[in-house]
Amino acid sequence: MTNVDKAGTFSLGKRKVKRMGYGAMQLAGPGVFGPPKDRNAALAVLREAVASGVDHIDTSDFYGPHVTNQIIREALAPYPKDLVIVTKISAKRGTDGSWMPAFSRAELTAAVHDNLRNLGLDVLEVVNLRSMLGIHGPVEGSLEAPLTVLADLQRQGLVRHIGLSNVTAKQVADGRRICEIVCVQNAYNLAHRADDALIDELAHDGIAYVPFFPLGGFTPLQSSVLFEVAARLGATPLQVALAWLLHRAPNILLIPGTGSVAHLRENFAAADLALPDELLKDLDRVAKIAAG
Ligand SMILES: NC(=O)c1ccc[n+]([C@@H]2O[C@H](COP(=O)([O-])OP(=O)(O)OC[C@H]3O[C@@H](n4cnc5c(N)ncnc54)[C@H](OP(=O)(O)O)[C@@H]3O)[C@@H](O)[C@H]2O)c1
Repeated sequence: MTNVDKAGTFSLGKRKVKRMGYGAMQLAGPGVFGPPKDRNAALAVLREAVASGVDHIDTSDFYGPHVTNQIIREALAPYPKDLVIVTKISAKRGTDGSWMPAFSRAELTAAVHDNLRNLGLDVLEVVNLRSMLGIHGPVEGSLEAPLTVLADLQRQGLVRHIGLSNVTAKQVADGRRICEIVCVQNAYNLAHRADDALIDELAHDGIAYVPFFPLGGFTPLQSSVLFEVAARLGATPLQVALAWLLHRAPNILLIPGTGSVAHLRENFAAADLALPDELLKDLDRVAKIAAG
């Protein structure tokens, strides 16, 4: 059994995936824009992830743009049968790397076709509608129009499952009245726990919760409590952060991002890390301290 297998599995719609996956955003160039410095290193990370047992990779055609999906295709196609590639749509990139909403029917449809072409797939297994009402966090507002477009694309057979990203609990509830939502992808980690109640609600309903920025994102988590717990366990702070997420709820699927094979291996080893009760209590203080 590999470390990845030790994380267990959870449903993603009709598919079952291992709870330790991989997020491919870091494979594009700086600022998730343009090509990576070392394309061969990016290919190696993806091949190592799959060789280690990963069957869930998160991506988007707006990473690069196009670059990350093209690297995934070059590294892994023809894809293993059990590999689930999850993508997201609703943003586009300016020539300066800026992020802009792309929420119209034409833009959403083009984004699905861009993903299909650049990944080399006939159907996308899971597409997350990423709310751009707020760029840095969820903002209330109706997602009915773009979600209806995505549901149409699903009916056309281009998309198998639909998820939501960067959304509020109300947007999830409203979305579930439009179509089946199989996963929610929001920012969440040891220090940023705004979605605690939503995670429990989704777990009750068998819906996957996929935290982005599980390690803190572009600036990995910094916390003296986390550092102390890691030292006591003989693990790295980021391994403890991932082990805590696996422990937090059974419906959490991990997609930590890295452009380094060494970091990838360290992250997978987190699935083998047990967190004793007294240390879990200490780790609960990280978010309280971060919130001030
Ligand atoms: N839906 C959305 O809006 C949204 C937004 C952001 C991200 N995402 C998805 O979520 C995935 C995860 O988020 P993320 O990649 O932004 O952030 P993350 O996983 O929280 O952290 C990535 C950062 O941690 C570093 N890192 C990873 N493993 C490490 C290790 N073992 N030791 C030291 N540093 C380590 C990486 O640098 P190195 O490359 O040097 O390892 C990178 O700087 C993304 O890849 C993407 O697929 C979705």
